[in-house]
Amino acid sequence: MTTATDDRIASAKIALHGISKEFVYKGRTLPVLESVDFYAQEGEVVSVIGPSGCGKSTLLNIIAGLEEPSGGTLWLNGVEARRPLGQVGYMHQKDLLLPWRTVLDNTLLGLEVQGIAKVKARSRALELMERFGLKGFEREYPYALSGGMRQRAAFLRAVLTGKDVLLLDEPFGALDALTRAQMQEWLLELWSAFRKTIVLVTHDVEEALFLSDRVYLFSARPGRVRLMLAVDLPRPRTHLVVTQEPFITYKAQLLAALGKESTGVQEEPWR
Ligand SMILES: Nc1ncnc2c1ncn2[C@@H]1O[C@H](COP(=O)(O)OP(=O)(O)OP(=O)(O)O)[C@@H](O)[C@H]1O
Ligand SMILES: [Mg+2]
Repeated sequence: MTTATDDRIASAKIALHGISKEFVYKGRTLPVLESVDFYAQEGEVVSVIGPSGCGKSTLLNIIAGLEEPSGGTLWLNGVEARRPLGQVGYMHQKDLLLPWRTVLDNTLLGLEVQGIAKVKARSRALELMERFGLKGFEREYPYALSGGMRQRAAFLRAVLTGKDVLLLDEPFGALDALTRAQMQEWLLELWSAFRKTIVLVTHDVEEALFLSDRVYLFSARPGRVRLMLAVDLPRPRTHLVVTQEPFITYKAQLLAALGKESTGVQEEPWR
């Protein structure tokens, strides 16, 4: 363990130091993440933004314990963790709702896996349906839901796991601009009610700034942290902030860094 980062690691909900990840396939090696230092304090919303393929989903998989890093160290709640399965709620890049299960039964999946009694799990899920805009649709199947409702159902499933860390991978990626803006405001309302620690992956600079306390900008693959920006905007926030300073300056800063990324850095191929 390094001394420079000790205090931050001890107090952070999530801390990564020098994390690297390589995938090996048919004898070839693909470097995906390199020397990543990252942290999220309790109750923070932290966004990760970067070019497609730079390792954002891989980073969340490492935090969730679904992938093992090739190097570096991960701490959760100040404790070193190798494969920390079951410690976080995770909403994957695809909503992964099971088509043969109703909305209610889909949201209960995480609790079932944890062995929580069905009656208790159902009553907790039903309590939250209204807040998630799903009331009246509990017994429908996913195909009967709008894109926004599917995303909210997948999100409710992650919240119902009861974990105090939520990993959200492009949670609003498939939505039109208007629905997306509504979902972002709704997420902030929900965050004020539950105060979870949230790590959010997005392609959208405005979304990252609007929702977050800090934004990490990653380089093209192999993903490295190019920039960490603290977003000093008062909460609660509404979309009015996006037309005002300092939001505009933050946005220009991130776009300039992203622009350099897409023109100046070549992706490293398989070795
Ligand atoms: N299990 C795996 N085996 C081999 N390669 C993988 C595996 N998972 C991911 N990769 C590769 O690692 C790289 C990073 O993938 P990842 O899904 O983390 O990117 P991303 O930043 O989330 O991209 P996007 O923005 O398109 O979702 C990609 O080149 C991908 O092909
Ligand atoms: Mg991804």
